[in-house]
Amino acid sequence: MTQELLHSPATERNKKPILEVLRHVLPSAGLVLEVASGTGQHVVHFARELPKLVWQPTDPDEGSRAAIVARLRAANLENVKEPISLDVLYTPWPVDRSDAILCINMIHISPWAVTEALFANAKHVLSSTGVLYLYGPYRQSGRHTEASNESFDTSLRSRNSEWGVRNLEDVTRIAEAQGFVLETTMDMPANNLSVIFRNAL
Ligand SMILES: C[S@@+](CC[C@H](N)C(=O)[O-])C[C@H]1O[C@@H](n2cnc3c(N)ncnc32)[C@H](O)[C@@H]1O
Repeated sequence: MTQELLHSPATERNKKPILEVLRHVLPSAGLVLEVASGTGQHVVHFARELPKLVWQPTDPDEGSRAAIVARLRAANLENVKEPISLDVLYTPWPVDRSDAILCINMIHISPWAVTEALFANAKHVLSSTGVLYLYGPYRQSGRHTEASNESFDTSLRSRNSEWGVRNLEDVTRIAEAQGFVLETTMDMPANNLSVIFRNAL
């Protein structure tokens, strides 16, 4: 992290491959709600490259929101709203409606109840047939896909016993229970997945 603008090297590396997926899954216009925006690197990059969409960054962490504000000032983009506080656990969410929701690298760095709340509450905000896009590392059929993900999982759990790399089937099960359908998954660099759910309500 630099002093001027909060900076995540991993976010800098994955923003371009994620954008290429988003070009295909996001609507051509409308509001995109980003849950857990962190440093704001993603929202600035995506908003610049997809200017017909309006972007709403959010994060429950005050320091992150301040970082996003600083990054937006530097970027000078007209299609990004000021960041707002959104903790997925608390309802109602401070957004009435969105045409798509992004949640990148959050569900393994938060308790499982946060993933459950994400789906339970996103469905009330997301337009019918809207996309809920997740990105991060996953286990599949209970197994890590690579040794590096297993090490990452161990380090996450040592930091917080409620964190950890999630099993894709468990995530899909709770998504389906809330009326989402798993549209597709895509392999991404560094053993991550893009996971695309659609609101089927
Ligand atoms: C590893 S950072 C990822 C940030 C950004 N999406 C990225 O990929 O660079 C995880 C983020 O999840 C957010 N977060 C943790 N628990 C949350 C919750 N209950 N609701 C919303 N965001 C949460 C944190 O504040 C943090 O910004």
